Formats: sequence, C-alpha cells, structure tokens
Amino acid sequence: MHKEIESGGWTAERNAAEVVSSGLEDVYIEWTRLTHVDGDRGELTYSGYAVEDILGKGALAEEVMYLFLHGELPSAGELRRFRGYIEEGYEIPDQVVATIGLAPRSASVVALQMQGMSALSAFSPGGQRYDDPDSAARLIGQMVAITSVSLRHVMGKKSRLPLPSDSVSRSFLGAVFDVEPEEKKVDALNAALILYMDHEVPASTTAGLVAVSTLADLYSGVVAALAALKGPMHGGAVEEVIKQFRDIGDPSRVDEWFAENVLNKKKKLMGFGHRVYKTYDPRAKAFKALASSLDLSGGSAALFDVAKALEEVGIYALGQKGIYPNADYYSGLVYMGIGFPPSNDAYTGLFAMSRVTGWIAHFLEYVEEQHRLIRPRAVYVGPDRREFPPLFERRRVVAELPQLRSRMPSSQAGILEVKGGGWGRLRI
Ligand code: CMC
Repeated sequence: MHKEIESGGWTAERNAAEVVSSGLEDVYIEWTRLTHVDGDRGELTYSGYAVEDILGKGALAEEVMYLFLHGELPSAGELRRFRGYIEEGYEIPDQVVATIGLAPRSASVVALQMQGMSALSAFSPGGQRYDDPDSAARLIGQMVAITSVSLRHVMGKKSRLPLPSDSVSRSFLGAVFDVEPEEKKVDALNAALILYMDHEVPASTTAGLVAVSTLADLYSGVVAALAALKGPMHGGAVEEVIKQFRDIGDPSRVDEWFAENVLNKKKKLMGFGHRVYKTYDPRAKAFKALASSLDLSGGSAALFDVAKALEEVGIYALGQKGIYPNADYYSGLVYMGIGFPPSNDAYTGLFAMSRVTGWIAHFLEYVEEQHRLIRPRAVYVGPDRREFPPLFERRRVVAELPQLRSRMPSSQAGILEVKGGGWGRLRI
C-alpha cells in the first residue's frame, strides 16, 4: 500500500517519486535463495523443499540449519562435522553466563538473549565473519546455550550449558530440564525448530539486515533482530495468544469473548492475520498437529480446546478478509506441552532460538552477495524553513492552554500571555 502525504509549503517542491510505503508493504529489499512464502496458496519452502515434506521425512533441525548456511542438504559426514561446530558454540564464556545471572528472575527471556548476544559481541571484538558458515554454526550453538541459561535463570535454576548429543533438541532439553527428555518432546522441539527457522524478511530479519548492512558484527545483527521479534505484532504474539486463551478460559465463553473484543474492535485476534499469508499459514497447521501429538493434559488441554473453538469462530468471522491462524496461534501450546514455563516471554525466546539460523543465513547471503548500506528516505512534512531563536527569546510552546492554566495556581494564571498563531505560543 503506497500513501502520498500532503503538507504545507513544502509539498509543491516535492518530487512525485516521494511516496511512503506504509509498513514497507510490498517493498523488496533483497534477493534470496533461502525461503519462499506463497501467501495466496499458503505454501512455505526452504530452498525449494516444502516444510511439510521436511517434517514428514523426519529431518533433524540441524540438517535444515546446514541447508540454510550451505545451500544444500548435508551428507552424514557433513552433518556430523556441522553438529560439532554447533556444539563448540555451547561453550559460552563464564562471563556471558554471569551477565545473564545479574538480571532479575522476572526478566524477559528475549531481553536476556539480547544481553547474552551483546556480551558475546563484547567478548569477540571484530565479531564474526560473513563468509564462514562454520563460525555461523558456532553462533547458533551459542544462541542455544544462551537460551538454555536464560530459561533456567527465570525458572530459578542454576545455569547449565547444553552437552553434545545426537541432536540439538536433545542437548537443549537436557540442559533446560533436570531429567532425560522424553522422545516425543525431543521430536516436537525438533519440529518447532524447523517450523520457525526462517520466513523470508519479516520485521526481525529486516531489522537485523539493516544492522549488518552497516557491516556491524553478526552478534549485533542478532541483537537488532531480537529487539524487533520481541513485540506482540511479531514473535511476542506467541505470549499474547496464550494470555488470550487463558482470558477466555473455557470453550463455552468463546462466542461472547469474540463478540465483545474482536467484533467490537477492542482487540485484535492474536495469532491471526499475516502480512503475506492471506490464507491458512502452513506452520499453523503443523503446530496444531504437533500440539495434538503431545497429548496435552490438565490446563494446557483446556487451553487447546479453547484454541480450537476460537479458531472456528475466528475463521468464520475473519476468513473472508484473508485473516487466518498464523504460526504463533498453536506454537505456544506446543512449547507448553513440552514443559516450558508460560511466562517471561519464554515462548518468544524459543521462537528466537529457531529463527537465529534464518537471521544469520540472510546476513551472510546479503553481505557476501549483494551488500549495500540500507538507508531509505523519509518524506519531510514538518514546518517550513525558519529562524532559530536563541534560548532567552524562546517561548514555551503548548498545545493545550486551558490544561496548563488549570495546573497553575490561580494567582499566577494571569501571567499567561498568548503570542503567535496556531500552536498557542505562551510567555510564562
Ligand atoms: N484480528 C482482527 N483484525 C485483524 C487482525 C487480527 N488478528 N489482523 C489484521 N486485522 C485487520 C485489521 O484490523 C485491518 O482491518 P481494517 O482494514 O478494517 O482496518 C486489516 O485486517 C489489515 O490489517 P493490518 O494490521 O493493516 O495488516 P498488517 O499486514 O499490517 O498486519 C499483523 C499483520 C500480523 C501485524 C496483524 O495481522 C496482527 O496484528 N495480528 C495479530 C498479531 C499476531 O498474531 N502477530 C503474529 C504475526 S505472524 C507470526 C510472527 O511473525 O510472529
């Protein structure tokens, strides 16, 4: 959607090319061989492989990580070596662990991931290279370690780093929880890692690309991407979705809640809608199937029932506008079913641990093959050129004269003297 913005005296001088693309919708910022999203058909492919096919063939997440960083799937030997680089990354410096430990237990896991990644940037002056998939694999391992330390911190547990095993999912679950992980949970996390691994250029990847387009180090790119992921319109939606299911509480309340909040436009339906998908997000289907496979019980089973009832109503009411469940609708229930705590942005942090591969793959592709500083323009709509008044001549500018008067003692209200025009210039 392109919007032309009109304003006062400068409009006439403005070039016709000066249009603002609201939210950068339909703006292409790079070429990529990594991921293709077909928003009309609801299809997602990684380097040509359909995500459903990857899951159906029982791929390990690190096979897909390799695909993103090397462009082709690994042989068994290549996969072993690649996992070795990831495992080297698990050994993050003690000081980085200590930095995370300084935060309150109430901290957001995403904030702790940013803290950890910033600390790694500080401990590796010069940062990582853009042409080295092996050190990129180490960075993925570092993110796995930082996420495990962050989760354990908010769960009130002593930090523990992941240990080498036959999969990243097993190493991670072994580090976060103090028991041997169940196979179906290892499989569910493995699938979740794949489903969230890359998604073309959403806000987080774009924010990271802006950072690395200045040739900032890879860690800084990841910090920028994490910051953009954290908000509720992007990765933070996973948290809001769970709050929404809790707020509804029971399937029998869905209709009333939906009418009161969504139809009345008080709230958006969280976990629904997408800038690119105008139909069902294939990741949402896969996450829903994963949630079923986990045989949820107790509170999480009740939330799953709410989710399914709300999905029906949501599609009935919003589907004709192209608003359908997105990846974040069922993913939180999968994380809950695995046993992660539904607090402290933990689920957004788990999303970030998957997405770090996509972020880095885009950074390497962009900087190595098509590097140029990302520097867009803004259309100026402020005041015309004017003389800068020295401090002692300046008047305080307020929009609301009556409000200011009401805050002043009545004895002093008389010293307000209106000067000048539209904005209400006052001498106080
Ligand atoms: N519930 C109700 N109405 C919606 C929703 C929703 N979830 N999403 C979009 N709309 C409406 C919106 O109100 C607007 O209506 P109108 O034309 O009457 O003003 C219209 O659809 C277009 O919406 P938009 O906000 O301009 O669309 P966008 O492409 O800028 O936003 C979005 C996409 C994902 C931010 C938005 O759909 C949304 O806020 N969804 C809820 C948050 C969410 O689930 N985010 C996760 C995104 S996908 C996974 C991820 O990246 O983490």
